[in-house]
Amino acid sequence: MISANVEIAILGAGAVGQLICHQLHAAGIPVGFIGKNIDTRREQQLSFTAFIQPEQMTSKALESHYSVPIIEPKLEALSGIKLIIVCVKAYQVLDAITPLLDKLSSQCHILLLHNGMGPHLALAPLIGTRGLSLGTTSQGVLRHNRWQIKQTGHGLTQIGHFSGQPLDDRYRHLLLEAIPNCEWVDAIIPCLWQKLAVNAAINPLTAIHKCTNGTLAQPQFNHTIAAILDELVYVAAQDGIQLDRVFLQDRVYRVITLTAGNFSSMHQDVAHQRQTEIDQINGYICERAKVHGLSATTNTEMCTKIKQLETSKSSGHI
Ligand code: PAF
Repeated sequence: MISANVEIAILGAGAVGQLICHQLHAAGIPVGFIGKNIDTRREQQLSFTAFIQPEQMTSKALESHYSVPIIEPKLEALSGIKLIIVCVKAYQVLDAITPLLDKLSSQCHILLLHNGMGPHLALAPLIGTRGLSLGTTSQGVLRHNRWQIKQTGHGLTQIGHFSGQPLDDRYRHLLLEAIPNCEWVDAIIPCLWQKLAVNAAINPLTAIHKCTNGTLAQPQFNHTIAAILDELVYVAAQDGIQLDRVFLQDRVYRVITLTAGNFSSMHQDVAHQRQTEIDQINGYICERAKVHGLSATTNTEMCTKIKQLETSKSSGHI
């Protein structure tokens, strides 16, 4: 089932997984999906369509159809994988990767690419000597239907080393070549905190107030956004990460302006009655605060309100 030369596998065939797969495939790199929730009895190839809008073009998207191998989650198929890119939601990371660990070689490198923070702390002790890299992407992508995606933005992707064996130079260069606007950073954790700030400020407020990202530019949200960021900067400092408060606030408002017409991922999750990533976004700030004997009142309030929306069956969105 697996073609012999597939060395890079993607776990998680959601919008981001399909976009990264498209980008690697388009760069001529053999890549496959690990078929955890894909029916491997019926399909040996996975076909999907990507509508990609090149940066220099404003209106027309290029349509590409892809077929990539599905890699069965079995020893003989997984033992040859050199790099596994985990693109599932943050709250699914441990459940998705743990059952595969005894089938992956000790040389297999793991790259986590999701919104929010936290799974890396639980995963690192479980993976032995394998290398772990972390990344964050601000590429915009929407899933039209199960196997059809559309790229909606060309934001920055940052990847860096976290623990164990560093990623082999060859794979590092392949990623940098294939993913547009992608950089390798020496210190990934501060980058993840910066992206966390954007998500912590935008996602819960848009879900609670049932609004677009752009609505948050209105003055009535200033106070809550400032409190979320104050707490985040203070907690990160206790974790040894110094963040520039002014820069962070500028970045949050820049994203609000650049994505003004979008509904955030948390807004969409609540609207479609799906589990949200609140535990790995504002919840991570509260969790780290607790570790340092602190409380993060506004972030806790965001968590409480989102949990209420998650459990109320009809949230009246959209
Ligand atoms: O989660 C999201 O929706 C996005 O990361 C962001 C940057 C908030 C834009 O909508």
